[in-house]
Amino acid sequence: MTKISSSGPSTPRVAIIGGGAIGLACALELARRGAAVTVFEAGPRAGEGALRASGGMLAGGFEGASGTEARAFADFAARSLTLWDEWAAMLAPHAPSPLGYRRAGSLSPAFRDDDLEWLQRLDVSGVERLMPKEARRLEPSIAPDIRGALLFPEDGELDNRVLGPALAAAIRAEGGVIRESAPVETLLLRHGRAAGVRALGRAFEADMILAAPGAQAPTLREIPETQLIAPVQGEMLALAPGAARLNRAIRGRHVYLTQKPDGRIVAGATARPGVANLAVRSQAVDALRRAAIETIPALGGSEVIETWAGLRPASPDGAPVIGWSALPGVFLALGHHRNGVLLAPATAEAAAAAILDVCDTRFHHTLQVVSA
Ligand code: GLY
Repeated sequence: MTKISSSGPSTPRVAIIGGGAIGLACALELARRGAAVTVFEAGPRAGEGALRASGGMLAGGFEGASGTEARAFADFAARSLTLWDEWAAMLAPHAPSPLGYRRAGSLSPAFRDDDLEWLQRLDVSGVERLMPKEARRLEPSIAPDIRGALLFPEDGELDNRVLGPALAAAIRAEGGVIRESAPVETLLLRHGRAAGVRALGRAFEADMILAAPGAQAPTLREIPETQLIAPVQGEMLALAPGAARLNRAIRGRHVYLTQKPDGRIVAGATARPGVANLAVRSQAVDALRRAAIETIPALGGSEVIETWAGLRPASPDGAPVIGWSALPGVFLALGHHRNGVLLAPATAEAAAAAILDVCDTRFHHTLQVVSA
């Protein structure tokens, strides 16, 4: 009788460096497809870095049109938006409170001549031009002196502070492990290939490493591509619920506004290339607040209930770096810049497919025909 057995592990073990939007989404997708995943998060809780600091907007239309991203961004963003419908439904049972997923588009208003010029530059195919009356019908709380607006109909938003715990719970439900306060100290290298990570004073062997370290990327010196990533700090604030109701994200020239399920309105954000600290400047908060009130006058009486900063991880051209590293055994999911939440599902899809394909091939090569 001839029996086929595997001399290698039948379940690929993947070590994921980084427990942000990208690391967690990749871990979930890999776990759903049968991999044994362990996430290593440097901070005390997964999902508490840039993901928690973000606006939670799914703004492929706006970000693509505003030219902050490279050209290939549009197709990848569109794929991710399609996946988001599925992901929001999959994550809902794991969310500790409503995820607040909605796809009502995002609206860019103009109040002054220079805003109108800005709108002309944003006016790409697929965008809807709105007269002031139509814009106010969609968003009754917008300032009456609005002179025109664009609607990016595919854009959406969710509550990013709920997304982190929902992703973590979904990973655990699939049998994945999340190690927190666990910065990766070094990679384990064997014959020039990454073979695991060292963290918490121990060695963790893995068949493959997925690097999704966000703005911490440059600390992973053994992975050469991480050195391309630099922080772009952003300051934000939240206004108390009650003063206004937004039906969709508002993407103005000087501020964006997104309302969360508890009614809070989050306003952002500055963009400070190279700033790696989380200090919030009071003049930046004042400027965002003024721009928020100019856009939605009812916010004039709203208290600022929180201010914070986060670090976007940016590559030199602003586009994410997704693919194999020059260091064998490492897959890169770096530099998602302004769009980690938006691009998480498509990144996870691409990363899981690539990693499991290579794992399949490697394990297949270790199959041995054993004569019994
Ligand atoms: N995604 C918006 C921002 O990075 O500020």
